[in-house]
Amino acid sequence: MRSANPFAPTFGALPPVLAGRADVIGDIAAAWETGPTHPGYTALLLGRRGTGKTVVLEELRALAQRQGWLTVSAAAVTPGLLNRLGHAAAEHLNRAAEALDADLRGDLAAAGIGVGAAYDPGADLARRLATVLSVLAEHLDRQGAGMAVTVDELHAGQTDELRTLGIALQDVTRLAQLPMAFVGAGLPVLEDTLLSDESVTFLQRCGRYEVGFLDHAAARTALAEPIRQRGGRMSPEAIDHATEAAGGYPFMVQLVGFHSWEAAAEPDTAVALSDVVEGARAAQQHIGQLVIAPLWRDQPASARRFLAAMAHDDGDSLLADIARRMDVTSGYVSVYRARLIKSGLVADVGKRTVAFALPSTRRWIRALDEFSYISESLHLTEERNVGFTLPHD
Ligand SMILES: Nc1ncnc2c1ncn2[C@@H]1O[C@H](COP(=O)(O)OP(=O)(O)OP(=O)(O)O)[C@@H](O)[C@H]1O
Ligand SMILES: [Mg+2]
Repeated sequence: MRSANPFAPTFGALPPVLAGRADVIGDIAAAWETGPTHPGYTALLLGRRGTGKTVVLEELRALAQRQGWLTVSAAAVTPGLLNRLGHAAAEHLNRAAEALDADLRGDLAAAGIGVGAAYDPGADLARRLATVLSVLAEHLDRQGAGMAVTVDELHAGQTDELRTLGIALQDVTRLAQLPMAFVGAGLPVLEDTLLSDESVTFLQRCGRYEVGFLDHAAARTALAEPIRQRGGRMSPEAIDHATEAAGGYPFMVQLVGFHSWEAAAEPDTAVALSDVVEGARAAQQHIGQLVIAPLWRDQPASARRFLAAMAHDDGDSLLADIARRMDVTSGYVSVYRARLIKSGLVADVGKRTVAFALPSTRRWIRALDEFSYISESLHLTEERNVGFTLPHD
């Protein structure tokens, strides 16, 4: 009987082999060992959609727990982040209620925060987050332990809430030097929004780690190793083809691996080149639905016009061509270039050129009905019909 597919092409799902992340995880682990003076003790993981930020965050959480730390975690996708973090921390205080020193109980009582039998799960702890966190961190410090606060999807957070969270963390970690590490994760667009907002200085001062595409060796390992671990063999050509199709994109690594496994007759024994060819084709279809479609939907009409204008090229696009096709100035296209790079749809391949960041994007855009409408509105239908050979001016 074939065993369960080891690959995990689902957002937030731990991959069978977490390749290429030893540096970032090692660095943050070293920071935790050193203490609050280490620049990585409060850290931000920045990366495009599907590069593996959530997975690294979860791995760090597991590491914290293995070393006996408590963790307080939440995602910033919906409002109420502070209250959620407050209750996650208060639940730890509940469990430790008997062991809390009298002065710490006093601090909680003074702020009207009940623990143990007096805990109120419905209380609004948003304004009292600083107290909850500092009491918990102080308690853990006295026990020789520590804690990590992790917040995912920071880019979606409410600025007010993140500002308040920053002040609380700043007080506990940087000013009081208590053992409370912080790791946040978000899209690179954070650099334009929160990280350029002077009022969120805490986040600006966090150590920044890029969670990017995997290099060739890491992508090969991520694809071949899970199959090898199950006793299956992959020829070097099959691994090459899979690595090529994944283009270093972690989500695509999982999709290609998953569909190649499905295509093989007996994947526990061997996954052949022909299985990978079939798997890569299926993966390309899925990546459109799962990753490119939601990114496209997030874009305003003007950015979609830019992307459609790019899709008229067979390879990288010259910005000058995009400006001409859209009938706009080069300043206008430069602004969109920067925004689209941040969104993760476009890769930075030089000042005057742009390319799609994810494999299969061009093919996906060209297949859209909307592509035809946009092309018509840009008067580009004829250019396409002549086989994409466009004069450069
Ligand atoms: N280092 C890695 N090696 C192989 N696969 C990985 C790696 N990191 C993540 N993946 C896979 O990539 C996919 C996306 O991971 P994850 O959900 O963590 O991305 P993300 O950056 O948090 O995405 P988003 O920005 O949408 O929240 C998952 O299927 C995961 O298993
Ligand atoms: Mg995520």
